[in-house]
Parts: sequence; structure tokens; C-alpha cells
Amino acid sequence: MKGIILAGGSGTRLHPATQVVNKHLLPIYNKPMIYYPLSTLMLMDVIDVLIICNKEDLEVYRKLFWDGSKMGINISYRIQEKPRGLAEGLLLAEDFVEDDDMCMILGDNIFFGHGLPDLLLETRRDLEKNGGAIIFAYWVHDPEKYGVVEFDEEENVLSLEEKPKHPKSNWVVTGLYFYNNKAVEIAKKIKPSHRGELEITSVNEEYLKRGELKVKLLGRGFAWFDAGTHDSFLEVSDFIATIEKKTGLLIGCIEEIAYRKGWMDKGQLVKLAQPLKKTGYGGYLLKIAEEKK
Ligand code: G1P
Repeated sequence: MKGIILAGGSGTRLHPATQVVNKHLLPIYNKPMIYYPLSTLMLMDVIDVLIICNKEDLEVYRKLFWDGSKMGINISYRIQEKPRGLAEGLLLAEDFVEDDDMCMILGDNIFFGHGLPDLLLETRRDLEKNGGAIIFAYWVHDPEKYGVVEFDEEENVLSLEEKPKHPKSNWVVTGLYFYNNKAVEIAKKIKPSHRGELEITSVNEEYLKRGELKVKLLGRGFAWFDAGTHDSFLEVSDFIATIEKKTGLLIGCIEEIAYRKGWMDKGQLVKLAQPLKKTGYGGYLLKIAEEKK
């Protein structure tokens, strides 16, 4: 399975904060936002990752992650010339995905909850075995801001609607999409919406029409955030800070995940921690390196 992170976009809703720095590079509490979606992919053992970004940000992402090899993963990059909608990500990823399955995640989506790694791995296995598409729905109080799922009493999906004025339910689609290889062909056929974008909801609707869409519910035990506004930056940062301080365990710590998965050794972890050792983050990595395995 290949991983795709959508980290482009103009970020106009966050100007001037994002006037010269891309949204996904801004910190959510103590690390760049993009660490969180990357960690989500790593938790499901995805080690081939494509970051789709704006031209002017490419060098910055490269400086941050290189080609991923220092963490034992493979990161490559594609430029999105203009924000033409989320489904364009699938088109840009065509030669990267080749004949594989894919998991696409939005660069501003942050997931947290007990059992999340198992759920992710289980979903990956489900997709690899059964094909089709698997997406997640989360209950929110303001569904009109998102893609909305309508269910019948047996939790069968009846419809999907992108930012409807009159939402048919409070269940909204999160920015984490598992697709079999057909997604690229489907994305090629969809038409831009009234707001001129290639909507990811149109791709999901096509899977629904074919009877190949599964929607899993993320219950109340999970936290899901889409960090697209100034307030959400604050809220998510507060949430992460609260949990990290309480437990002393970091959320979205990509080096920790790579080390615990066995993708890099202790020497490499220490090497990555060295330049960060004056910070709590670096100290945390050094502490992990000292743990008995
Ligand atoms: C996008 C999708 C929407 C989804 C949301 C989740 O919206 O179009 O269906 O619910 O991400 O973060 P956007 O945040 O791009 O407006």
C-alpha cells in the first residue's frame, strides 16, 4: 500500500499566518502539522509516502524529511501547480501508486484515540483483501462544513454530500481515504463541482454507486481534527499539549514510530535526536533510545 499526503493549497483562509509558510509546516503545539498525518500512515506500516505540495514549498519539505531514508521510509514529492481539488491528488499520484492500493490523507487531519493503530492496520488488511474503498465518519455538531454521510437504520450508506446546506446527518467524512487501484481511473472521470474543484466526495460517490464503499464509524473514543482555521490550530495544540504533558508520551512523533517499528536502529535514533537535544522533543527521543528493548 502506498501513502499520499496532500500538503498543498493556498491557505488563504489563514493569511497572514500562511502568507509565506505553508499551513502544513506550521506547528501544532511542538511539531510541524505534517508530522501528524505522516505518523498516521506510518502506524499502518506504510513506508512509501508521496507528499503533494506547492512548488515553493518543495525545498522546505525536502529539508525536513529528505527522502525519508534516515527513518527507514521512502518519501517522494510531487508538485501541485494549482489547488484544483483533493481528487487531483490521485491524478498526481498515478505514476507513484502504479498498480498498488493507496491510502490518502489530508495534511491537516489529525487522528487520536485508543486502538487507532490496530484500527488502521485492520482497515489496511480489509482493503487489501476485499478491494473497493474504505472511509471514516465522525460525529460533529457542524456537519455543513464537511462531506456528510447519510445512513439508513442498519448503517448502510444512502448518500454522500459535500458541504450541504441542509445536512442529512451529523456524520462527516474525515480526510483519510483507503482506495484500491481503481481510484485513479475514477478520479480521471469526475467533473469539477460548482466551486470548480475535483471533489474527493465525487470519487467516494462513484465507489458508493458501484456498491464498493465501506464507511467505518469513528466513535466517541476518538478525537479527529481538521486544522483549517486559526481557532482549530489553538484547539488542537491545546489538546495535544494536554495529553502529552499528562502522559509524558508524544503524539505524532515520527522518529519514535520508525524506531519502535524497527525501521531504524538506536544509533540512527540518537543521531536524529542530537540536533534537537535542547528541546523536550529531542530529550524524549534520547530517552527512548536508552530504553531496554
Ligand atoms: C475536505 C473534504 C470533505 C471532508 C474534509 C475533512 O474538505 O472535501 O469532504 O469532510 O476535507 O477534513 P476541506 O477541508 O478541503 O474543505
